[in-house]
Amino acid sequence: MVIKLDKEGDENAVEESEEVEKKVVGKEKKAQLIDLPGVGPGAVAKLEAAGIYDLMGLAVLTPAHLSEMAGMSESVARKAIQASRKMMDLGFSDGLAHEEKRKELFNITTGSKNLDNLLGGKGIQTKSITEAFGAFGSGKTQLAISLAVGVQLPIEQGGANGKCVYIDTEGTFRPERVRQFAEGIGANPDKVLKNILVARAFNSDHQMLLLDKVAEMIKDGEPIRLMIIDSLTAHFRAEYSGRGQLADRQQRLNRYLHNLMKIAEQNNLAVYVTNQVMSDPAQMFGDPTKAIGGNIVGHACTYRMYLRRGKKDSRVCKLIDSPDLPDDETVFMIERDGLKDIEL
Ligand code: GTP
Ligand code: MG
Repeated sequence: MVIKLDKEGDENAVEESEEVEKKVVGKEKKAQLIDLPGVGPGAVAKLEAAGIYDLMGLAVLTPAHLSEMAGMSESVARKAIQASRKMMDLGFSDGLAHEEKRKELFNITTGSKNLDNLLGGKGIQTKSITEAFGAFGSGKTQLAISLAVGVQLPIEQGGANGKCVYIDTEGTFRPERVRQFAEGIGANPDKVLKNILVARAFNSDHQMLLLDKVAEMIKDGEPIRLMIIDSLTAHFRAEYSGRGQLADRQQRLNRYLHNLMKIAEQNNLAVYVTNQVMSDPAQMFGDPTKAIGGNIVGHACTYRMYLRRGKKDSRVCKLIDSPDLPDDETVFMIERDGLKDIEL
């Protein structure tokens, strides 16, 4: 299903490439819930209905919780939990092993060399959440579309050879824009659109629920390498707007981000979220805009980008508080057929 590119934009150049796909998806068989002692098909069905699909989901439960969920005795539940923890080897690992694990990560090009460089050279990364915040029209959604196309490219062309899940909370996903971006890199627009699985989230509960659906799709073998939430905060902000509701909102947002990170880490996929800004009256000097969601969002996102309009219709992107990259900024343009660089 990977798109292959050919400079002439030849239709046939975009074709199925099973060989590469196997390399990405065909990991050695992972232990599953059914492999645990005392966990039969009936228990698996109940667990899946409750949103537990894998060993990690089960390993973090308490025996009482598992026993209630799966309809088994507490002692059987305790044994299953112990077995899952053992199989997953939960605990410490040394720095070298950690480094080895980081080699599994994929990068996804943003479509702009300048932006890719700002993010360490190769765009956004799997097993992390990248946030773009900024005012309306700053380019958050356009960047989302560029990534949704980029993820489908073969690894050697800056993609992750995978599909994209697009959770659209505001109804701003535009297939026409995907077509234009795909044409811009000489890919078959129909095939590119087919690899973007779009869901409209109607409220924050629905937005939460869709994450379970994504976990289910991955379990069924969909090679998803990118999940986009556009926008992360809009529903939460609209639904919890009253005085005294802020703590509730933050708590739910926190839970949501936690689940996002869990899916990203367990399935080696990248998460890109967009976020709005509000003006901060306390800020007397400099830029008075600040991201919605405060520290909860700030801490949960691995990479934060602040987008704003620059000179001559350009967009300025500033990287903030990255764990491994310097704070820096760059410039790019939004054009009909994709994000374009301008000379720095
Ligand atoms: P909100 O969702 O409203 O918060 O904004 P956003 O940050 O998601 O904005 P988005 O990424 O949708 O950017 C919209 C801007 O992209 C427009 O104002 C245009 O400047 C630009 N844009 C969108 N489509 C095109 C296009 O076809 N050609 C060109 N040249 N620019 C476009
Ligand atoms: Mg938008």
